[in-house]
Amino acid sequence: MISVGSFSFYLCIMVTFILNNQLISTETPEVSSLLDFIRYEKDMPGTKVGCREGDCGACTVLEGTLKNNKITYKSIVSCLTPVGNVQGKHIVTVEGLNMEHLSPVQKTMVENNATQCGFCTPGFVMSLTAHCLSKDKSVRQKAIAAISGNICRCTGYKSIERVASDISILLKEKNIENPVDWLVKMEFIPDYFLTIPVRLAKIKKENRRPGKSEIFIGGGTDLMVHKSEELVKADMNFLQNRKDLKYITFDKGKCMIGAATTVSEIEHSAVLKKHIPEISSHFRLVASEPIKNMATIGGNIVNASPIGDLTIMFLAFNAEVIIDSSGNSRTIPLKNFFLGYKKLSVKRNEVVKSIEFQLAAKPVLFNFEKVSRRSHLDIASVNSAIQIKMDDEKIKECFLSAGGVSPIPLFLTKTSGFLMGKRIDPDIILEANEIMQKEISPISDVRGSKDYKRLLIRQLLFAHFIKLFPGTLNLDDIIKTK
Ligand SMILES: Cc1cc2nc3c(=O)[nH]c(=O)nc-3n(C[C@H](O)[C@H](O)[C@H](O)COP(=O)(O)OP(=O)(O)OC[C@H]3O[C@@H](n4cnc5c(N)ncnc54)[C@H](O)[C@@H]3O)c2cc1C
Ligand code: FES
Ligand code: FES
Repeated sequence: MISVGSFSFYLCIMVTFILNNQLISTETPEVSSLLDFIRYEKDMPGTKVGCREGDCGACTVLEGTLKNNKITYKSIVSCLTPVGNVQGKHIVTVEGLNMEHLSPVQKTMVENNATQCGFCTPGFVMSLTAHCLSKDKSVRQKAIAAISGNICRCTGYKSIERVASDISILLKEKNIENPVDWLVKMEFIPDYFLTIPVRLAKIKKENRRPGKSEIFIGGGTDLMVHKSEELVKADMNFLQNRKDLKYITFDKGKCMIGAATTVSEIEHSAVLKKHIPEISSHFRLVASEPIKNMATIGGNIVNASPIGDLTIMFLAFNAEVIIDSSGNSRTIPLKNFFLGYKKLSVKRNEVVKSIEFQLAAKPVLFNFEKVSRRSHLDIASVNSAIQIKMDDEKIKECFLSAGGVSPIPLFLTKTSGFLMGKRIDPDIILEANEIMQKEISPISDVRGSKDYKRLLIRQLLFAHFIKLFPGTLNLDDIIKTK
């Protein structure tokens, strides 16, 4: 908002993108939701309004991004997407898939009787189409993961899972280098998709005012849930598409991740997989596909949730946070970043630029555990991560973190310190638990009583060691020792 004398007015910024086959230039407030824009400004009712909190998937659309003249599509939830985040993108709603016939995804839904009232159906169709468009080989498990964010209240999931299975068979011959051409040829998507890269390239050349506001927004998956009403007329600083904040690099033993890197980009990073081969399996415990496609690492850290999954993981990497303060950089260890419940070492006008941490050349011993009320797609009751470096039989270095057991995401300094120099032994792990229990201060809330959380974190500590040292330890050994 701009104030001149006693007058205040809102600065209207043009957002330009392609919606299905149409070029859009709009002055709609950048922080208003893409869902409302699609339904109420563009009168396209195919995208449904369900929860408005990213949970049901009824509002799922595709987002296509051009990079190095190549386009990549992913699913996003339009209810939590601020219009400002789609500048220069291709957005596809279910109407944008219309052809003279049903697409193979729609046809397979019909053939499997996978729809009843139809409310959820556009969301499922969009998530499965995103899977078709992915530059990844299709297998049943991945097709089912693609619909992890979609809820159906009446059909039952078995028939929808059969659809996912059948589609993965139809995609056997997919050209993963250039899925768009292949899918147009096989009539999965309309042929206007072929024109999109050239049209997006033209939009990208248009200059857009760089953000000056002190209200930062990454993917919006936290801010848009909690503050969408109060922010609707605010001038926002959109970070998600900033190239200087979007990278994962590894150089001289150091890994650097830009703050606008999404959870999905971290999950599928070849750099990280080389050093942490199991990384993708840990990310299966984090949110749904569309949320992971939107949520950034910067947002996960700055929202300061005591149970933020990525924050807990990167605490165990002993990460540092690089902060940009009016052009000057400063560095804070992630473990010192949280001062109290939702209180941070970052000032209002400072932006988190990246996180950085050391990674050994050979694969590291790392594990992440999470317990939530629902086994998947739920916020943790308690979560924990550990990284261990061994020197022969002894622990040389240990970094242990715990979430949900204190007002902040906790680095367990004393427990980690105790474990250093010790052999892997049931007595030692029980002793470590005693120390850990003194370091934490859980409270009772909707995610469990404080005693239950103490029990959970103990079990997660055991789980770390049993998983990382399977030949050396098992649960019976630890419990018998007690
Ligand atoms: C349905 C659903 C499921 C979820 N499941 C999980 C889950 O399983 N695990 C989990 O950990 N979280 C989960 N979340 C929470 C959320 O998705 C994550 O915390 C996410 O990483 C937030 O990132 P964002 O980019 O969307 O944040 P935003 O909403 O964009 O921002 C969050 C806060 O960070 C600030 N901010 C963002 N980037 C920066 C920056 N670079 N510098 C300074 N400030 C910044 C914003 O101003 C805001 O205060 C879920 C959310 C939803 C809606
Ligand atoms: S309306 Fe439910 S996820 Fe968007
Ligand atoms: S068909 Fe009715 S909600 Fe899924």
